[in-house]
Amino acid sequence: MAVRRPAAPDRKAPGRSRNGSGAASSWAPVPTTFRSANRSLPNPWERIFGPLRRGQIDDLVVVGQCGQSIDARIATASGHSHYINGEGGLIHLHRLRALVDAVVIGVGTAIADDPQLTVRRVDGPNPARVVIDPNGRLPSSARLLAADGIRRVVISDVEAPAVLPAGVEVVLLPAREGQLAPAAIVAALAACGFRRILIEGGADTVSRFVAARCLDRLHVLVAPIILGAGRSSLTLPPIERLDEAMRAPMHVHNLGGDVLLDCDLSAQRLPIGRAKISM
Ligand SMILES: NC(=O)c1ccc[n+]([C@@H]2O[C@H](COP(=O)([O-])OP(=O)(O)OC[C@H]3O[C@@H](n4cnc5c(N)ncnc54)[C@H](OP(=O)(O)O)[C@@H]3O)[C@@H](O)[C@H]2O)c1
Repeated sequence: MAVRRPAAPDRKAPGRSRNGSGAASSWAPVPTTFRSANRSLPNPWERIFGPLRRGQIDDLVVVGQCGQSIDARIATASGHSHYINGEGGLIHLHRLRALVDAVVIGVGTAIADDPQLTVRRVDGPNPARVVIDPNGRLPSSARLLAADGIRRVVISDVEAPAVLPAGVEVVLLPAREGQLAPAAIVAALAACGFRRILIEGGADTVSRFVAARCLDRLHVLVAPIILGAGRSSLTLPPIERLDEAMRAPMHVHNLGGDVLLDCDLSAQRLPIGRAKISM
């Protein structure tokens, strides 16, 4: 099964962008307006990103993202995953990065993809980069650890911090049966001063945050391909009955090829706290 490849990995999107609404408006001022107190974002950005401006449950906004095929796969059976999404989905991911204070990945993604986690396809500031690495597996050569003036944070178990380059902040949390509590991770990031947090992946990491009821929203980016087999996007503990299912009211946005399902999980989100510094 062929997986679509990116058009141009490092190209910035043009300043004006067209969305499914047919309306075109400039992206360039959005990251600044998004962080300011009162002004609405120009459409279509208010509809898509407005819900991420302030938390419904507490001071924090935690958004997960998942790029997947129509049949909810994030990779082929052999693990090939670059890229499920087309240009519209990839630009959306970079917009999310430009709007949050910190982007979080699991060490599985850090090792498999060696991502930079910077904002390259659109205008906007780079977020702090955070890796969850309970067993100290992250190589010190990982690109996201590069010293470029952006904060880099590794979250590890008290028993197993990795040897890391100078300047990388380390947050140590106690693991229980191999799991660092997602609520404790979010609280620790809030203590670092991060208020809006993107849980970018992979599937295992996002699933843990969903299962622990630590997401305000989940952005599912559905690409128009069917893989038939391979890694599932979300995997949660089984339920017996449909009435036990997590309910997630959705807004649907056409990203030009890919479709964004913006799922509101605030009804089940646990209260966690307040960021030390509002950024
Ligand atoms: N389609 C997308 O949107 C997307 C986005 C990102 C990545 N990906 C793909 O996803 C794949 C990797 O995903 P993955 O699910 O295998 O791995 P992953 O989610 O990136 O990392 C999982 C690992 O991170 C650690 N971890 C994360 N949360 C933890 C927690 N709360 N407590 C303890 N440990 C935690 C664990 O490390 P230990 O194993 O050391 O215990 C866990 O095994 C790659 O192929 C990548 O390309 C896809």
